[in-house]
Amino acid sequence: MFRSLSLVLILFASRSLFAQVVSSPDGNLSLTFAVSEGVPSYQLSYKQKQVITPSKLGIETADVPSFLSGFTISNRAQLSVNDTWSPVMGEQKVIRNQYNELLVTLTQKEQKDRYIRIRFRVFNDGLGFRYEFPQQDQLKYFVIKEERTEFNLAGDHKIFWIPGDYDTNEYPYTTSRVSEIPGLMAKATVQISAQQPIKNPSVQTPVMMKSPDGLYINIHEAALINYPAMALNVDGAALKMSAHLCPDPVGNKGYLQTDTHSPWRTIVVSDKATDILASKLILNLNEPTAYKDVSWIKPVKYVGVWWEYFVSGKSTWAYSDVTNVKLTDDFSKFKPNGRHGATNEHVRKYIDFAAENGFDAVLVEGWNIGWEDWFGNWKEEVFDFVTPYPDFDVKALNAYAKSKGVKIIMHHETSASATNYERRLNAAFQFMNDNGYNAVKTGYVGQVIPRGEHHDSQWMVNHYIHVAKTAADYKIMVNSHEAVRPTGLHRTYPNWIAQESARGTEFEAMGGLAPEHGTILPFTRLMGGPMDYTPGIFQTDLSYYGTGSTQRVNTTLVKQLAYYVTMYSPLQMAADMPENYNRFKDALQFIKEVAVDWDDTYVLEAEPGDYITIARKAKGKDEWFVGGITDENARVANLTFDYLPKGKKYAATLYADGKDAGWNTRPQSYTIKTITVTSETKLKQALAPGGGLAISIKEEVKKK
Ligand code: NOJ
Ligand code: CA
Repeated sequence: MFRSLSLVLILFASRSLFAQVVSSPDGNLSLTFAVSEGVPSYQLSYKQKQVITPSKLGIETADVPSFLSGFTISNRAQLSVNDTWSPVMGEQKVIRNQYNELLVTLTQKEQKDRYIRIRFRVFNDGLGFRYEFPQQDQLKYFVIKEERTEFNLAGDHKIFWIPGDYDTNEYPYTTSRVSEIPGLMAKATVQISAQQPIKNPSVQTPVMMKSPDGLYINIHEAALINYPAMALNVDGAALKMSAHLCPDPVGNKGYLQTDTHSPWRTIVVSDKATDILASKLILNLNEPTAYKDVSWIKPVKYVGVWWEYFVSGKSTWAYSDVTNVKLTDDFSKFKPNGRHGATNEHVRKYIDFAAENGFDAVLVEGWNIGWEDWFGNWKEEVFDFVTPYPDFDVKALNAYAKSKGVKIIMHHETSASATNYERRLNAAFQFMNDNGYNAVKTGYVGQVIPRGEHHDSQWMVNHYIHVAKTAADYKIMVNSHEAVRPTGLHRTYPNWIAQESARGTEFEAMGGLAPEHGTILPFTRLMGGPMDYTPGIFQTDLSYYGTGSTQRVNTTLVKQLAYYVTMYSPLQMAADMPENYNRFKDALQFIKEVAVDWDDTYVLEAEPGDYITIARKAKGKDEWFVGGITDENARVANLTFDYLPKGKKYAATLYADGKDAGWNTRPQSYTIKTITVTSETKLKQALAPGGGLAISIKEEVKKK
């Protein structure tokens, strides 16, 4: 696997300065690691342009002496790796993992030769580095007070950001200059359930930037395990960023025992925005899958008893309007409120719809007791995950679904009581096995229990992984909502199939998402992993439901189709209600056909905040799908088809915005036509304001 072991040592200026340069395999990126006056630092450049100016490295500890200064280099090793691997599910069948690595050992003479290591991996599309803490007599346990990693910027970049927060990522994005962040923080910090905004100016990762000289820079982390999540402090005047770890209830940040290491800090960089979306750096820095058998992990396209709870005014999660319920209560004695959504009859309709239209599964929320006062009381035992409401027959419904070739997706809202969930986890998963469920949507709405922990703290980070691993013991796939944002762990734990951890479609019913939102998410939140964005809303004007709501989903109908391609996830919901899909059966056809697992991906055009056009080849099939989206501005997408095999004709069915379409005018105006394309075809296609474009491509049926 390791091709060469070479040492590129360029400079020993004096005793107090050591510096070493490592380049990416293509030579475009150049990392310089230095130790000056005992303090380690790094800088990064891309094609001679500075990406990160000299930035300190180190960790401040609460108990033992810190890992900040007094270092000398006692060893360094360099190697090159160039291999490939295949994800269980993904955007492409084969992923290249090619980098040059530098591993430095840093010794603190004054701490009895205590040492740590820093491992740098320089890929063609960016840098990853992490701290490593080998086991040694001088270092066994330590408590992290703060990680002091700096990310000093070379300019006042344009930045797409959400406020730093210990508990949520469900903020709308703000676009500004880095220097403007402190001044915009109050406005950007909109109200969200259980939020805990960081007091000093800071941003969540993944954060996306564009430098004045045209570099696209994304900062995040990879393989977040047994460590708190990292936000970034922002010094707007000095254009400096630095790590800000999520604390625990007593104010510490992490508890580590050697041998161990930090997650990878990642900087993806290119002069082309399309390269950022195509980057597999974060996945490459995660470990191969931990599971021997992955045959049970499958892509899922699903519908659900869900969106109606947000918009219809007719149905809800709770069975009754009683308050102050307990899990020991006899819910069959409560007076039904007549609006319970998860009833036998209603769920059967969704199962029928799923079966008729080829969906794999139906998510059912509100099936279990406890929804009467699930939120806001910070109570520990809200749900037991095994007791259905009296009008939801678990066995009969699963048998019915099975008879139609459809699965029911389990829902475990924990109301962020992780303690209660962990206590009940095995019983809950056993219950799923006994009743034929193979996937669960988990949720962490509200303030975390154990009280004082945060959604992003080390304890909770370990909780989510514990849930994913335990689920694997039961061959269950997990889609977590409100968990810490992903860091590529779906490579290692591929049954952790998708996550929310961002502002998703539900917010279209709670104030709306900006038309540009979908053009930013792939550059930010989705850098870490697949998102359960829940696209597919056809009835975008919500006044339709007569609830008095004047809200609208801020896209055209066609843009909702395009999301299935631009927003990668092997788990995709068709979130609207069957009755709405039945009104637009020709448009539904695209959702029915679109793949969710891919052999290959071609990012054709992209600019964060403005537009994205992506083509993908379906896994194991000669079918291609194209999605194009724009922000609030109309635009013309430039489509090429050179990814198609040469010399063959294909039938491309185009779902396009109507001439009069727009997210706030006639969102449901669209056209569908089929044309012939070859690998040579070039096409210009108009997208409406807030609009999109979706294409499905198949081999042309030969006429006799
Ligand atoms: C928030 C989730 O994002 C949403 O999908 C779910 O319906 C509610 N929590 C209730 O669990
Ligand atoms: Ca949510």
